[in-house]
Amino acid sequence: MEKYVINGGVPLHGEITVSGAKNAALAIIPAAILCQDVCTIENLPVSISDVRYMIATLRHIGATVRYVDKSTIEIDSRKVNSYVISHDMTKHLRASYYFIGALLGRFGRARVAMPGGCYLGPRPIDQHIKGFEALGARVSVEENAIVEADSESLFGNPIYLDIVSVGATVNIMLAAARAEGMTIIENAAKEPHIVDLANFLNSMGADVRGAGTDVIKIRGTENLHGCTYSIIPDQIEAGTYMVAAAATKGNVLIKNVIPKHLESISTKLIECGADVTEYDDAIRVSMEKRPGKCNIKTMPHPGFPTDMQPQMAVLLALAEGTSVISESIWSNRFRYTEQLARMGADITVDGQLAMIHGVEQLKGAPVKADDLRAGAAMIIAGLAAQGRTEIEDIMHIRRGYENVVEKISNIGGDIRMVYCIDPLDINNAG
Ligand code: UD1
Repeated sequence: MEKYVINGGVPLHGEITVSGAKNAALAIIPAAILCQDVCTIENLPVSISDVRYMIATLRHIGATVRYVDKSTIEIDSRKVNSYVISHDMTKHLRASYYFIGALLGRFGRARVAMPGGCYLGPRPIDQHIKGFEALGARVSVEENAIVEADSESLFGNPIYLDIVSVGATVNIMLAAARAEGMTIIENAAKEPHIVDLANFLNSMGADVRGAGTDVIKIRGTENLHGCTYSIIPDQIEAGTYMVAAAATKGNVLIKNVIPKHLESISTKLIECGADVTEYDDAIRVSMEKRPGKCNIKTMPHPGFPTDMQPQMAVLLALAEGTSVISESIWSNRFRYTEQLARMGADITVDGQLAMIHGVEQLKGAPVKADDLRAGAAMIIAGLAAQGRTEIEDIMHIRRGYENVVEKISNIGGDIRMVYCIDPLDINNAG
């Protein structure tokens, strides 16, 4: 069993470099099987476990994957020969369901076990299914466990999403890239990784227009080819370090970012009293005083991202006054507040609202990472708190933060990973 141990209370200072975007990578890796050729993916967060699982899944269906350097892989999908992916491969992460769209595009059929991933509330896939059916696929879900989709041929069609869904938008784009004719996704998600996927598909020879707006038009083609593509920087990793700089009253230059993607986060940090300076591909965040309160409502892009909500809650837990967070995407995304309460935070949760009464100081405590972003919040809390914090269940954090110990240590944070014996593990009982 591994945990992070943090001795907090040290302001973060220096420079940190953000990795490639996890959520873009998770869409682009399966997209590579839409061609029968070789794709080189650069600026990939190669060492996070979500990416490793996606690479393992590619190999499972017959692709050859070669690590070129610490942020580049080469995917040769010429020998992909299976449209079946079992629960063993899909249980680790949500994005494994992107193989449904990608395999439908490649073979006209897919048999993929239901995905795992962070528990943030119910995560239905009705909009994905609606999209596949609009493209002419027959879709069934066997015993709530396996999605089976098949079609003689996919053909483009208009699809109106009843709810703005990142996952459904990605999955439909993947299948539609190889469908005959024009697919129009209305009420599409606009997140930066949707645009990145569209750019990747276009680099493969696809015709995708309008990504980043409500309406995405995809004219399908049989003839996709390999390409070399560099993934965008991770908006949420960047945002996490921006909040960490502010919460520790530090001064950090965060490099390899697209400041435009960070606007909703910068705005809220400025409202709390931080100084935020934008450069071409970097952003500096500094904070000299106790943060002020602010209210946040999570929204689809370009609104405030739900994946930054737990991290911001830590800053607001230390703010002067009472702040309100309204979570509008997920029905169960405040579990981490129980862990923050162990550190002295004063937060009342009522359904999808959290009232955060700022305290002057958090105190180090043993806590756990309930999920990926909850874990990121625990790291920020530990860095800002007085004393020692131990974070358990760090496998969630390692799903999405590359070299987190090294990166934070380089800006002065006292964090290390320790191995400890699980008292319930009978093999280690001594
Ligand atoms: C993606 C992100 C996740 C982020 C979320 C919202 C990835 C790999 N994950 O998740 O980190 O928190 O976007 O920004 O990119 N919904 C339906 N029916 C569907 C699909 C979704 O009702 O068929 C609902 C969901 O329950 C949720 C909302 O739509 O309430 C948004 O979900 P969606 O955008 O699909 O999130 P994910 O793609 O799963």
